[in-house]
Amino acid sequence: TAPERLRNFCIIAHIDHGKSTLADRMLQITGIVDARAMRAQYLDRMDIERERGITIKSQAVRMPWTPQTSTAPGRVGQAYALNMIDTPGHVDFTYEVSRSLAACEGAVLLVDAAQGIEAQTLANLYLAMENDLAIVPVLNKIDLPAAQPERYAEELAGLVGGDPADVLRVSGKTGVGVEALLDRIVDVVPAPVGDPDAPARAMIFDSVYDTYRGVVTYVRVVDGVLRPRERIAMMSTRAQHDLLEIGVSSPEPTPSEGLGVGEVGYLITGVKDVRQSRVGDTVTSASKPASEPVGAYEDPKPMVFSGLFPIDGSDYPLLRDALDKLKLNDAALAYEPETSVALGFGFRCGFLGLLHLEITRDRLEREFGLDLISTAPSVVYEVTLDDGREVTVTNPSEYPSGKVSEVREPVVKATVLTPADYIGTVMELCQQRRGELQGMDYLSEDRVEMRYRLPMAEIVFDFFDALKSRTRGYASFDYDVDGDQAADLVKVDILLQGEQVDAFSAIVHKDKAYAYGVMMASKLRELIPRQQFEVPVQAAIGARVIARETVRAIRKDVLAKCYGGDITRKRKLLEKQKEGKKRMKMVGRVEVPQEAFIAALSTD
Ligand code: GTP
Repeated sequence: TAPERLRNFCIIAHIDHGKSTLADRMLQITGIVDARAMRAQYLDRMDIERERGITIKSQAVRMPWTPQTSTAPGRVGQAYALNMIDTPGHVDFTYEVSRSLAACEGAVLLVDAAQGIEAQTLANLYLAMENDLAIVPVLNKIDLPAAQPERYAEELAGLVGGDPADVLRVSGKTGVGVEALLDRIVDVVPAPVGDPDAPARAMIFDSVYDTYRGVVTYVRVVDGVLRPRERIAMMSTRAQHDLLEIGVSSPEPTPSEGLGVGEVGYLITGVKDVRQSRVGDTVTSASKPASEPVGAYEDPKPMVFSGLFPIDGSDYPLLRDALDKLKLNDAALAYEPETSVALGFGFRCGFLGLLHLEITRDRLEREFGLDLISTAPSVVYEVTLDDGREVTVTNPSEYPSGKVSEVREPVVKATVLTPADYIGTVMELCQQRRGELQGMDYLSEDRVEMRYRLPMAEIVFDFFDALKSRTRGYASFDYDVDGDQAADLVKVDILLQGEQVDAFSAIVHKDKAYAYGVMMASKLRELIPRQQFEVPVQAAIGARVIARETVRAIRKDVLAKCYGGDITRKRKLLEKQKEGKKRMKMVGRVEVPQEAFIAALSTD
């Protein structure tokens, strides 16, 4: 298709504002999925398929469209091809989102007509603006009785510029207004521009592992043409592959004879690992390579680390295999073996953010049947020692023991959107989390955008939940990583009878060290069964003890309950006690059931 007849767009929205439903409706209205085959969330079927090990995720769908109401001359009645590119919705995947946006010329900014603008609406809009995309503001769910299109059209127009009357009103559910939206996309989104005679360059905006076809790579061609059977090269690694198949998803994969300027499609090379086909990299022809990549390529960088341990130690090999499998489809997942006194053998894993951690853990449990315990998430600290050495710490128990001159922690730029009534509440929360207010804007009379700089460590844990509960669910929140800064941080250790329990070490702000120590010590005092001797539970910073609890001694006599001389019964009890012991971990002389560690680490 000639570039003049192509339009590449994405839909950006806050979660639950109806992106998937609208996408479904577009597939149906453009006729590429017929009404009978149409199931709810056609594009979302991916998840189910992934669970069954077959992946045909359509990250980009090509739809034919012939506008009927275009205002520009010469467009009505002409055949266009619209590429709808899906974007991952969450900040953890900002880099992936920005690559998807870079593959488009326009974005449909979708806002729920009963909710108005939310934090993710803004975060995504800012990313779209950084990528110079044309914005098509749209109010969705106008069929809802609670919809307030007038009010939110004004809010939306105020945000992106333009007249409230030009904000489209649609319902993804009933289909009202969706045809007009498709026409508007043809009018507002610019056609792609590129040099058809230049060496081929295509940007990878997603790659997924498919059990049957190997890695399927989604690309947007910028210059030149990519053809099947030619040899291609990845510009960041110089690795070369044979192009086995190239095509478009419509929405089923359809092989084609080549992809030209501005076209969006998939390619298959037979590689088995998404790391060989990374988001952000540029594909070029091996025989006639381009000299410059499309954009700077960034390696995915884990921001949050956590130890994952199988509750049943014999599941360790299973966990390793499962991580290897997930890695095939997730270039950002990092892991290496870790051994813990308290939890045994496991892996130290790195994630893009907390959601990435949760998704991964959930998949390990659901898809691989593993029972896991994860240690408290930790961010990455840069520690400078007095002798000038620099150490990167991703695991608190590996915090250097030498004299520390400076510790740096990552910080984020956060956006909180809240009804004006809760400004005070939000400020209080952010202050407790060591946040610095950077600015505040009223989006309308009663809705405020607050911008904060916050240490990442303060939000990875429970910030979102705290914000939601304090604002009765009305505030929304989004963040973006923003470098690092020095802070007054210390490492708190937890000791049982003088022995350090690695899984409980934490790096915390000096002002919060005492509270953390007291909390952990009292939790453990309750969880650790009495031993035949007294067990002190201490929290310490270096050699200085900051909190102490004691588990009192008891002589546990299992036979006390046995009256009379029934020897078999006694034997049974002794057997039982022995079995119980197997799941005990020894910390020095202290026997601790693994359940106690697990309970102490669980957050709820
Ligand atoms: P993903 O993030 O991709 O999962 O999509 P989403 O969260 O943006 O929204 P989704 O399409 O899953 O819709 C969220 C909820 O809103 C669902 O319960 C939909 O049924 C509902 N919904 C979506 N569009 C409309 C609409 O136009 N009208 C009404 N009444 N409900 C809608």
